[in-house]
Amino acid sequence: MIEKITFQELFAMKKKAEKIVSLTAYDASFAALLDAAGVEVVLVGDSLGMVLQGEANTLDVSMDDMVYHTRLVSKTCKRAMLVSDLPFQSYETKELALHNAERLVQAGAKVVKLEGGVEMQEVVEHLCANNIEVCGHVGLQPQSVELYGGYKVQGRDENSARRIMNGALALQSAGAKMVVLECIPADLAEQVTAALNIPTIGIGAGVACDGQVLVLYDLLGVSIKSPHMAKNFLAESGNISDAIRDYVSAVKSGDFPAIEHSFK
Ligand code: KIV
Repeated sequence: MIEKITFQELFAMKKKAEKIVSLTAYDASFAALLDAAGVEVVLVGDSLGMVLQGEANTLDVSMDDMVYHTRLVSKTCKRAMLVSDLPFQSYETKELALHNAERLVQAGAKVVKLEGGVEMQEVVEHLCANNIEVCGHVGLQPQSVELYGGYKVQGRDENSARRIMNGALALQSAGAKMVVLECIPADLAEQVTAALNIPTIGIGAGVACDGQVLVLYDLLGVSIKSPHMAKNFLAESGNISDAIRDYVSAVKSGDFPAIEHSFK
């Protein structure tokens, strides 16, 4: 019987400065490869709207889509912690958030992820009070892409940096057990990581985060449009399993992300 990764282990890794490795998966075959390669956190991200469904953003992903892909991934994700995204407009009230989070948990998720900082505090408290484990997501929040006017680095000015720091602290106080930091300056991510007791998982947020996540299709170089912070690991390794293992080693050793995958 394979033991599941627990939050206790992830917190211990943060303390020991051992990097946490995360990747997205949307189906059983890839989830099995990630699990075998030692990925600790598998994310069924709503990025599936872009890489599987061919949309320009994640806004059309439905709860039914997330439940379906969570169920597929949960079949083979034996060791890794399974995190699933609550999609756009699925957590606008605390009651709706709980109803939809319970659907993801029933489909096999251990943790639900939602986007937003201080404004999400009440929703996160409600989920945690009802025994739902929560991962926050601050910085570039893809579900708010229309408000930003595109996918843009966040936290470069003082107000925006303060909002991100306060948001991460609010999520932690509300009971979130982990926070994704997306596309923010590496220095800011380092400060947020130092300020929190819970692990930070970065994407385009520099090497100082407690862990790293990438969209699997970006790592394999098959995304329709690959972002600046991603690296095509398949180009060097030549086969998918080795590409995933190389990513795991590069995150563990601190070789990924390099400066060119980070922002100032
Ligand atoms: O949906 C997703 O894949 C994500 C990651 C980019 C963190 O939220």
